[in-house]
Amino acid sequence: MAPVEADALSERVLSEQVLIERALSEQRLASAGAVLHVIGTDAGGAASLMAPAQALLRQASLVLAPRRLLSELPCWWQAEQAVGRIPPSEPCPDLLASDRPEQILDPLQRALAEGRAAVLLASGDPLWFGIGRLLLQHFRPDQLRFHPAPSSLQLAFARIGRPWQDAAWISLHGRDPEPLAAALQKRPPALAVLTDPGRGGAEAVRQILRAAGLEAAYGFWLCERLGHPAERVQRLAPVVAIPADCDPLHLVLLIAEAPPPLDPEILPPFGLDDGLFLQHEDRPGLMTKREVRIQLLADLQLPAAGVLWDVGAGVGSVGLEALRLRPRLQAGRRQGQTGPQGVGASAKAVEQGSHGAAQPWGMATPMWA
Ligand SMILES: C[S@@+](CC[C@H](N)C(=O)[O-])C[C@H]1O[C@@H](n2cnc3c(N)ncnc32)[C@H](O)[C@@H]1O
Repeated sequence: MAPVEADALSERVLSEQVLIERALSEQRLASAGAVLHVIGTDAGGAASLMAPAQALLRQASLVLAPRRLLSELPCWWQAEQAVGRIPPSEPCPDLLASDRPEQILDPLQRALAEGRAAVLLASGDPLWFGIGRLLLQHFRPDQLRFHPAPSSLQLAFARIGRPWQDAAWISLHGRDPEPLAAALQKRPPALAVLTDPGRGGAEAVRQILRAAGLEAAYGFWLCERLGHPAERVQRLAPVVAIPADCDPLHLVLLIAEAPPPLDPEILPPFGLDDGLFLQHEDRPGLMTKREVRIQLLADLQLPAAGVLWDVGAGVGSVGLEALRLRPRLQAGRRQGQTGPQGVGASAKAVEQGSHGAAQPWGMATPMWA
């Protein structure tokens, strides 16, 4: 090995050593004052942890973790013994499943009162949609040390290689999926959905995307057991079913796509998907929804010719659909107070705001040239 490489290596070993020493001295303090180390990890569990976190785990006499991670701990312990990082006589720590977090509170209180070295493994950043919030409700902050790992959201965006500073996110854990429909109405450029397998998981996400008429507007990425050797990340076309063997530990990334070129000939005569209309950037999703629009168009009993005024038209979806049904109609829309002040040319749509300036309105992909 070249001397420079050897130096760099020994520097890295040294700094790792410093971090381990610091973690262990924290652990010694912890035993005196009883501190719970809450350590984030990916689906790889103990094997994925950085050296300082692994050092804390080796010192623990009680380890709490979701069952999927807990089951791998005895093997990891033995492997550590085999390479001499844990004395052969050291027994595996007590293991306690944390899948029902409210059930770990009493045993944890007891363990801390006894001054036991306790470690809790949690997914990603325990303070981001994680167990950290519950722990902070039942333990003093000085009884807890948080060691976050990259969150599942970070891992997912890293896997598909997309920056995520513009992303929105939502967790469906323990709640109905309706907030997802509301989040989609805002048309975020990217939306990460933490799924709840108990409430339908990825399938529920897909159904809501479909019901919103946005399947073509978003790429659907299914990201399973991120960080595990058997991790799987795939983009699913709308016609492809969610895999039957989908891992319960998964999230979905919805990535907005440029709309494909539209052929007016193959669109239905009316009742177009909401996702086909251009949105106001500052008020995304503010529009008459498809179901209501269909009813309105029927109730209007549009004449073959004449003038249709849409007052407070939003994206103008009703007027545009009316023009498709009745090409000899004139349609105008007015934002702000009522009263006809702008008239569109035949089969054309013109907007006049209360300020009097005309603005474009139309389809996400132009169909009205
Ligand atoms: C209660 S949230 C915890 C989020 C976690 N604190 C984080 O930082 O990612 C659990 C949900 O996050 C997602 N998740 C967490 N870890 C994951 C992983 N390794 N792979 C895929 N999804 C994961 C899943 O949607 C899972 O149902």
